[in-house]
Formats: sequence, C-alpha cells, structure tokens
Amino acid sequence: MTSTQEADLSLRPYLVEYPYKYNFLMNEPQRCEQEKPFLVLMVPVAPHNRKHRDVIRSTWGGQSSVLGKELRLFFLLGLQTGDGAELLREQLLQESKEHRDLIQSDFLDCYKNLTIKTMVMLEWLDSYCSSASYAMKIDSDMFLNVPNLIKMLLEAPETNYMTGLVARTSLVLRNQDSMWYIPEELYAESQYPPYALGLGYVLSLDLPKKLVEASRHVRAFYIEDVYLGFCMKHAGIPLYDPPSWDFFHSFPPYSRCAFSKIVATIINENMDRIWLWKDFNRPGPYC
Ligand SMILES: *[C@@H]1O[C@H](CO)[C@@H](O)[C@H](O)[C@H]1NC(C)=O
Repeated sequence: MTSTQEADLSLRPYLVEYPYKYNFLMNEPQRCEQEKPFLVLMVPVAPHNRKHRDVIRSTWGGQSSVLGKELRLFFLLGLQTGDGAELLREQLLQESKEHRDLIQSDFLDCYKNLTIKTMVMLEWLDSYCSSASYAMKIDSDMFLNVPNLIKMLLEAPETNYMTGLVARTSLVLRNQDSMWYIPEELYAESQYPPYALGLGYVLSLDLPKKLVEASRHVRAFYIEDVYLGFCMKHAGIPLYDPPSWDFFHSFPPYSRCAFSKIVATIINENMDRIWLWKDFNRPGPYC
C-alpha cells in the first residue's frame, strides 16, 4: 500500500457524504409561501426525541407572532434505522399531521452527520423558504428570547448577514482524545476561519443559496459550524459580531433578569424548561 492510500484510509472516519442528493421523507413545502413568516426557527433534533420537540413547542417555539412579526418553527430530522424504526416512522407521521413542523431527510441521523443535516437545512430554506427574511438555527437544549431576537433583526442588514457567538481565532484541536480532534492530513492550518457556534446562529435568507453553492467547492467537514465558516470564507462573506456580546453568551445561570437581556443561551440540562418558561413569562419587572 502506498502512503497516500494509507492516509486516505485513516481519514475515512471523517468522510462526510455531501454533496449528495438526499430526499425529503417529510416536508412542509408550502408553509413559508403561504404564511409568509419574517423569521423561521430551525431546530435539528433526533427523530426519537419527541420530548424535546414538545417542550420547544410549548415554550419559545410556540409563539407565532412577536412584536408584530410572524415566525414559524420547523424541526430537522434525519433517518433512524434498526429496531423500532417502523413504529417510529408511524409516530412521526402522526406527529407531523398534528403539528406540520417536521422536515425529515433520508440521511442517517447521527452526530457525525450533522454537517449533512445543516446543509440539507440550507437546501430546504433555499427551496421552500427564501421568501422569509431571516432564519435562526438553534439547538433543542437552548433558551431563546424571541423579542430580543426580533429587535436585533429589525436593526440588522437584510443580506449577507450571519451572526451568533462568532469564534474568530479558534484553534484546531490536535489532541486525539478530543471530541473535535482533527488530524493534520485533514486540515493542516492551526486555526479555523471565523464561524458562528452551532448552538444558535442567525442568517439572512439570501445566504442559503450562496452557502449551498459554496459547498460544491469546499470539501465537507464533519464539524458543521466550522464547515459553514469555510463556506462563508469561500463565498467571501464576513460574519457579523452580535450588537452585544451578552446576546449569545453561553451559560448565564438562570434568573429572569439575566435571561431578559440575552438572545439565546444553553439551558442547564437539570433545569425544568417548562417551569423556567412560566417563571420567565410571569408578570412583574425582570430585574
Ligand atoms: C451518514 O449518512 C449517510 C447517508 O445516509 C450514511 O451512508 C452514513 O453511514 C452516515 N454516517 C454515519 C457516520 O453514520
């Protein structure tokens, strides 16, 4: 075996099957066109994770109009195979009928395929939702302050806009034990280009087309948010810093006052999200 072949073999775990023509198994092709939202919230979630979806539907994702702006929520799912897959498929169809918010594509849903999920999301936004003004991709374990997000967007550029918690000097991790270890043969430079952390980022809806186009020229990389950074760089579009660094800061312990000032944050996994939502929305001053 030549050394190039050896190198290729060792990189096999990092291969991402994209670009590739995946198919939508569940889709909502008309909702954006008919309901004309200003903002769409896109939440990637594993197919079996109904509980997370229900919590989001009954908290921040359940609002359809905020400060006079329409917003809609969609979940992005891949495919689950193996035991129970057939039952799950039926449950998902039922859930989709009930809520009309599931987008499912036929790639295998797993951590290493998050880049595929992100790119399929962008393809979907480009095909079915380019009439909206902005999209926010947000993870299911986050808290979202929708009024603050809308206020931020009302002041934001209308095109070539992407912001969030922007990492500008992120080092490539070379420790093999790291979850984000990257061998030098895969990416030789010591820093990544600027990218918005995947927990939650916002983009104007002219960007999906440009990023999908860029992805045809930039080899897929399994760390999905870093990959979008590569695509932004290829497209020559700089990322914006949020108007306030507090908007996307990651772990403020919960208090009504702290959460009234942010846009999005991770919620500690031990918190009861329904309780938190009720407490946050009770009347009275936040601070
Ligand atoms: C990612 O999805 C593709 C397409 O379904 C599949 O062939 C591949 O095995 C998946 N990757 C992993 C690591 O499961």
